[in-house]
Order: sequence, then structure tokens, then C-alpha cells
Amino acid sequence: MSILFDENKKLFTLETAHASYQMFVNAYGFLQHLHFGEKLGGGSCEGLQGTGFMSFSPAPDVAGNDYLASPDLTQQEYPVFGSGDYRSHCMAVTFADGGRNPELCYQSHRILTEKPVLEGLPGLHGSCETLEITLRDRWTDLQVVLLYSVFDQYDAIARSARIVNHTGAPVEINAALTACLDFPESGFDLLHFWGRHAMERLVERTPLTHGKICVDSVRGTSSHQQNPFVIVCDHAATEDAGRCWGVSLLYSGNFTACAEVDQAACCRVTMGINPTGFSWHLENGESFQTPEAALVYSGEGLGALSRRYHKLYRRNLCRGEWALKQRPVLINNWEATYFDFDDEKLVSIAKTAADLGVEMLVVDDGWFGNRFDDNRALGDWVVNTEKVRGGMKSLCDRINALGMKLGLWFEPEMISEDSELYRAHPDWCLHVPGRGKSRSRNQLVLDMSRKEVRDHIHDMMHAVLSSANFSYVKWDMNRHLTDVWSAELPAGRQGEVYHRFVLGVYELLERLETEFPHILFEGCSGGGGRFDAGMLYYHPQIWCSDNTDAVERLEIQYGTSFGYPISAVGSHVSACPNHQTGRTTPFHTRGVVAMSGTFGYELDLNKISEEEKEQVRAQVKQYHRLYSLINDGDYYRLLDMTQQKDLSAWEFAAEDGSRALLNIVYAHVRANCPPPMLYLRGLTPDACYRVTDDTGRELGVWTGAVLMYAGMRAPIPQEARAYGQTDYAAFQFELERLS
Ligand code: GLA
Repeated sequence: MSILFDENKKLFTLETAHASYQMFVNAYGFLQHLHFGEKLGGGSCEGLQGTGFMSFSPAPDVAGNDYLASPDLTQQEYPVFGSGDYRSHCMAVTFADGGRNPELCYQSHRILTEKPVLEGLPGLHGSCETLEITLRDRWTDLQVVLLYSVFDQYDAIARSARIVNHTGAPVEINAALTACLDFPESGFDLLHFWGRHAMERLVERTPLTHGKICVDSVRGTSSHQQNPFVIVCDHAATEDAGRCWGVSLLYSGNFTACAEVDQAACCRVTMGINPTGFSWHLENGESFQTPEAALVYSGEGLGALSRRYHKLYRRNLCRGEWALKQRPVLINNWEATYFDFDDEKLVSIAKTAADLGVEMLVVDDGWFGNRFDDNRALGDWVVNTEKVRGGMKSLCDRINALGMKLGLWFEPEMISEDSELYRAHPDWCLHVPGRGKSRSRNQLVLDMSRKEVRDHIHDMMHAVLSSANFSYVKWDMNRHLTDVWSAELPAGRQGEVYHRFVLGVYELLERLETEFPHILFEGCSGGGGRFDAGMLYYHPQIWCSDNTDAVERLEIQYGTSFGYPISAVGSHVSACPNHQTGRTTPFHTRGVVAMSGTFGYELDLNKISEEEKEQVRAQVKQYHRLYSLINDGDYYRLLDMTQQKDLSAWEFAAEDGSRALLNIVYAHVRANCPPPMLYLRGLTPDACYRVTDDTGRELGVWTGAVLMYAGMRAPIPQEARAYGQTDYAAFQFELERLS
């Protein structure tokens, strides 16, 4: 039993392997949060955390003059706007009479032995127990149903809320966030993951201050600029020690994550749909379901927190045939050819790739309509037979005959003004009639909230995907939303369009992925602009960044690893000088970095040297050999890139400690400067390990304890001469347990 209810104390305790989550119903019927953290072993923490009286914090009517019951001073589960809690709220509503002060009280609860499916929204799945608590406004029949599903193995609680209107009149929802996490203290840092196109998910760690730190998106997608995942941790928390709480939203649209320190020096974290630009009209009898958030606790530092997310998302978020299956090593033609390709060029790249062991060719942007450049043809998902002569079936047969699979790029949510689709349906893009349209990458956005639009795109994609033996789809999205307005909805309901857009995208994805269960879908949005847990429910892998520079990727993949598994991180070896930075890195280094993700190539293999081709052959073999260690193993960040960026080191260790892979890459070499010590992780302390370098040379045999606690000095870059270059040197060491 992971969910306990004490009827006398009206106390709920959710137990996971290492954590407890506790809340209770107070004397006035309000649901108060008590604890999420270390295991309490059955005890209640009620009565120990009160801040005491503070003036200007009002008591609700039912509490008379009992100011200690002020919602402003007590820890909440689902705080509302308008009833005396002045901190960040989860819900704001306007009743038919204009009143805006709901008072949510406990009404009932149920314990379910499974996780309810959130219709039309991503959600965790798998074996778990769920607590469903129904709250009711004291004055009307407005209900809020809170869901808590307990994934005990990963110390994770999946939370969401459903607002149900039985008031007999319409209700306007002004804010409907997913979850709140209140703490009786605030000596914390916030880690968030900011960025820009081609430089996503950079870690920023900042102490909380009085007031609010909010990270958010109003771009219509989760965005490159911020990520719907934050961590709150002790100031002293490291990779291996300290309390950390992760809050990750399973949603791909506008979000807000807010960490606030209040007048009593208590911290509140809220996460959910961004209320900016949002409103929802709820008729009597209707309900609104928020997206889900996965809350994870670790008392053993940031590393354990990440590993819990990795396993939870790999096993209980990603779905379908490809969730846990070994992904094919692919070659993508984007950086190899951009728009300048035809079937002969593709087949010639594929021939070389097949010979080197690569398993799939992905035909990127440019195969359809009149798409000779990025000014036109989005929306015309019909093969261009000038480029792909003989059509897709013929190309696919030729690729399959080489023993390779074939994949295809789409950008389903977009429309070019110079397209057949736009000429036929100029009103299908997001725009406000009578006003201008903002362009970005020369394109407009389709109104995915409209069923007829989705149906049309679906039918075109379905026809292409049924026309040949496709194994993979890259689902791209290359601009953010503007002019958000839909012809489907009346003026007073335009605040629903951002969310309905996301629901529309999810619906189209669900439909196509159900129809083509064997196809591996990879997400993309100008690289990693929609790298979120919502998308991972539909795509088990996402192109991590348009930046393929191995050195820059170190930081991008480092940040991404905090909340997302390695098997989700699309990563390729590309040509040098690199197309984004102009930097030249060794081929070996590019391989080491790309191998910490879903491995592939993105360059013309006919243009590289024979020696590099041999490296490709060796890399593919090595990736296959190490696949399960990299994807199923435990991932450890060995050096803190927020402190130094000269050297990056990370490790994969098998769960049972039988083997490990240590990766080291130099981003900056300094003269006369000894490299740092590396302390390995995840080994069996009293077992012996043989350590071999990436030339196959045995370095020696040491015990796990020695390698973990005494450590080893990172090699100096000059030792990488074996690869012909010391700039940006990379090393891989394999550890094999002998006894
Ligand atoms: C985006 C993607 C790239 C490529 C181009 C094609 O930028 O991230 O990988 O597919 O679109 O236009």
C-alpha cells in the first residue's frame, strides 16, 4: 500500500521507496500540505510547522477570528486566487455573478489501484496507486478533483487537477495550474534550464529570494528559451548529496514555473499552464483537466534525482514499440545536402552509409511539393518527383535493398504562403481577420485547434506514410505562435486557442502513431525547442539541438540530462568545420559526444576520408556493443559544468555494477595545468575492474572502491595524440568487473 489514510486525523500519506508525501484536512475542512521529502515512517507532522500569527493574513469566514487558519500562512495543496492566500495560486475563476473567491474544502476521496488516463493529454502509465481527492467550493458546486499517482520505485508523484462545474451556470477559468509544492522553509536554490535556438537547456542555478522567480513560455510551445522542468534543492546540494525536488510538466505549450519565498520565509513552487493569454469557458456540467506534472524527490543529490527521472520517463512515460527498443543508427541528409538533393544523391549517401554499418536513412526537409528552399510548400505533403524520381515507393525499395530503413521529415503544423494549401485555404493559418500576420522562417502556423485542418494534414501524411515502407518520422516545428485566434471560437473564448492548439497537436500525433505503430517518431522543433515530457509521451526521442558542434553539445546534453533520459536525446556526428560554429573537432570526439544519445550521422559520408570512414565503422560497432549500458545504465555527471566548462566527464554504469563507460572531453586546454581528479560512481566497491582505453589498451586493474573513493586523474589532452589531434580531445574508458 503506497497510499494511507488516517480517518481520525484526516491524514493522507503517500509512501515511495525513499520519500513520504503528506497532507491533511484541517478543522475547517481545508486540505493542507504537510510534507514531501524523507520518509516519515508512519508519523504525522501535523502541528509542527505553523508560522504563528502574522497580521494582514486574513482568516476565512468559517474560522471566525482564528487567524492561524489563514490560507496565507498555511501550506496548501491547490491554492486559489481571491480567498486570502496572497501567494502564487494554482486556480483563479470568475463565477457567473462576477465573484472570484472560491473556497475549496475537502469533500471526498477515493484510492484507485491504477492511474486514470487523462483524455487527450500525455500522462505517466504503468503500475501505481492513485489518490483522488475531491474538493468543493464552500459556496457553490464548483469542484476540483486532485489526482496523485504514486510511482514508488522512482520516488515520483504524478499530479494533476480537474475543475468540474456543477454550479448551474457558466464559470470562466482564468488560471488552472497543475500543482503546488509548499515548504515550511526556503534555504533553497532553483535550477532551471534556459536557452535559445541552437543552445538549449543551459543550467542556471540561483538562490531563491523573497518574491518570485518565474520561468515560463508564452511562445505556444514549451520553447528553446525555457523548459517546463525545474529543480529546487538545498543550497549545499551536490550531485551526490542534499535534498532535491524536481517538478516536470508533461505539456508542450505555454507554461509557468514559479518559485516564491513569502513573508514567513516559506517557499512555494507552482507549475502549470501559463495563465497569460489563457482563459477557459466552462459550461455547467463541463470539466477542465490540467496537464500532469511529475514530482520527484531525492535526498541523495541531483544525480539520483536525474536517474529517477530517466527511469521513470523511459519506462512509464514513453510508449509503444520503440519506447525501450534499440533505436537504429541513422544518417540524416539535412547538413549533408540541405535542399539540394535528388534520389541519386540520397541513394549514394545511403550506399556508403550501409557499407559502414549505418541502419537508416532519414530524408529531411525538401522532398515534397515545390520545396526547393524554405520560402515555400509547407503544407503540400506530396512527394516532389523531380527530386525523388520514381516517388517514395521506389526510393524506399532502393534503400531497403541496401539493408537500410527509410525515414521522412514532416513539419505538420506549418503552412507557407507559397503553397497549394495556402492558395486553397488562406484562412487556415492562425491570424486575426483584418490584421497582419507575423512571419517567422518565412512561414505561418496552421490553426491546429480546428478539426478540419487536422483532418486534412492527417490525410496527406497518412497517404505518404502508407505509400512505402517507412520506419521513422521526424516531426518538426520551426516557429513559435503569433496572431493566436481561431475562426472556430467566439470572441469571448479566444483565450482557449493556445491550449486547444496543443490538444490538437496531441490528437494528430495520437492518431498517426496509432495508425503506424511500427514507425519510430522523433520530435523536433528547430532542434530542441519542444523538448519536454509531454512530447516524450508521443516521441521516445527528440532532436536535442540544431547545434551539432561537439563542444557546444557538451553543455546542451549536460543540461538536458538533468530531467530527460539519454534514450530521448537525438545526437549526431556532423561535418567540420561545424556548420553552426565553424569549429573543427576530431571525428573521434564527435563520436564520443553523439554516442551519449540516440546515435546518428548528419553529413555526406561520401565526402569524408577513408580513415574517417573506418572510424564510422568502428563507432557504429561500438555503439551497438555499448547500447544497453548507455541507455539502460545509470548516468552520472562527474564534473559540474556550472562551475567549469574546460573539461566534461560523465559515466554510464550498469545497474548491477558489472561494467561502466567513462567519457571525457576537453573543451579548453590550458598550459601547465593538471586535470582534475575523477571519482567514478556506481561500481561494486570490493570488486576488481579492468580498465581499458578506447584504443583497446589495458590500463590496469583496480577495485571499485579505489576508482570511486580514491579516484583517477583525468588524462591530459596530449595523451589523445593517437587520434592525430589534441584540440578538443576525447577519451572513453571501459570498465569491466572481473570478480
Ligand atoms: C529544423 C530542424 C533541422 C532540419 C531543418 C529543416 O531546423 O531542427 O534538423 O530538419 O529544420 O528545415
